[in-house]
Amino acid sequence: MSGDQDGALVFDIGSHSIRAGFAREDCPEVDLSTSIGAVLDGGDGSTPSKYYIDPNITEIPQDNMEAVTPFKDGMIENWDSFQAIIDHIYYKRLKSKPSLHPVLMSEPAWNTTEKRERLAELMFEHYNIPSFFLCKSAVLSTFGNGRVTALILDSGATYTTATPVVDGLVIQQGIVKSPLAGDFITQQCRELLQEMNVELIPTYMIASKEAVPEGAPANWKRMEELPHVTPSWHDHVCNSMIHDFKKSVLQVSRTAYNDNVAAKMPTVHYEFPNGYNRRFGIERLRVVEGLFNMSSVKGLPDDNALGVCEVLLKSVELCDRKISAKLYGNIVVAGGNSLLQGFTERLAQELSNKTKNIKSRLITNELAVERRRLGAWRGGSSFASLGTFTQSCISRKEYEEEGKLCLERKCP
Ligand SMILES: Nc1ncnc2c1ncn2[C@@H]1O[C@H](COP(=O)(O)OP(=O)(O)OP(=O)(O)O)[C@@H](O)[C@H]1O
Ligand SMILES: [Mg+2]
Repeated sequence: MSGDQDGALVFDIGSHSIRAGFAREDCPEVDLSTSIGAVLDGGDGSTPSKYYIDPNITEIPQDNMEAVTPFKDGMIENWDSFQAIIDHIYYKRLKSKPSLHPVLMSEPAWNTTEKRERLAELMFEHYNIPSFFLCKSAVLSTFGNGRVTALILDSGATYTTATPVVDGLVIQQGIVKSPLAGDFITQQCRELLQEMNVELIPTYMIASKEAVPEGAPANWKRMEELPHVTPSWHDHVCNSMIHDFKKSVLQVSRTAYNDNVAAKMPTVHYEFPNGYNRRFGIERLRVVEGLFNMSSVKGLPDDNALGVCEVLLKSVELCDRKISAKLYGNIVVAGGNSLLQGFTERLAQELSNKTKNIKSRLITNELAVERRRLGAWRGGSSFASLGTFTQSCISRKEYEEEGKLCLERKCP
């Protein structure tokens, strides 16, 4: 590294949140939601005039503020809002100059050439960074678990994916993805609460509330003067409520769901912001069952839907038989949706039922579950602190001489 460069910065780009911080650190300094506020300009009514990224602002209702995300299908789609987030991370959070730090960024294994090139262009030409490395998030999760070979099962927001990584490289033919992941569970919860006639009233609408007994109708007063919030922003706030509900209430059944077994599980008491409170019993298991057992899902999100265990089995099946044992012996569980209570136990159970004569091993970080969500970032942090990282990167000189072609050569 030349003397005028500081330590590398690591960005783990996810469609639900972006994790960013300096290499060598244990945890990212920034963990930012990708759902941000945008006020659309009066001109053509669709071009944002200003983005609001600070969560302290995006959670406060504002006239005409939309909630937008740069991501579609797990990939960057809207570059304007993506850049607004990266600006915020550099200038407001890390308070650092982009030209000082080499950058390691993660990408989904199915990213397109066009998007990779556009990202390199943004980082070199707009941010003027000294060097760049783009790495598949599954490879970083492999490194984050102290390995170079693994089968990464990542259940994030958009997809649950299985990605085989051998000697630090993704085996492309073995990538399997299913839309049964965090966003799907959020949707299932919304439908469940609607069926149970539980109205989602976010805090911003509530002027006051009284304590009510369990199961009784809520007793609350609406704010008198509410800003004209947009449907997309209201939806974003409701999704944040559901996120909390998912963390506190849901539980994956240890074996295939059945009403009798579920009825014996402990119930969980939960109170919504307007004071409505009740116990959730069998519903807390039923609503997540679709992740493992598609026959329990009413409207499947699309034809590629596969249960979590099937995603793994299919991925190994698509790879050379010679590496099957290696993959089954190194299954790393990653992604925020895998933090659902009981997720890894059910997966282990299904895997042992479905692969009777095969030895499989799940690496689940049971003692530090947040590592599952941060594993890719941590892998990037240790990779970018190695002495060899500088040679792995595309330097500014290489980018200027070779152009975007060097991406394929240096960041396969
Ligand atoms: N403790 C938890 N319990 C249940 N669900 C959780 C928990 N923590 C996070 N999630 C869910 O995990 C999902 C986000 O996972 P993650 O942070 O791995 O996604 P991402 O990397 O930003 O997105 P992606 O990999 O899909 O592009 C969201 O749906 C969120 O609600
Ligand atoms: Mg992710």
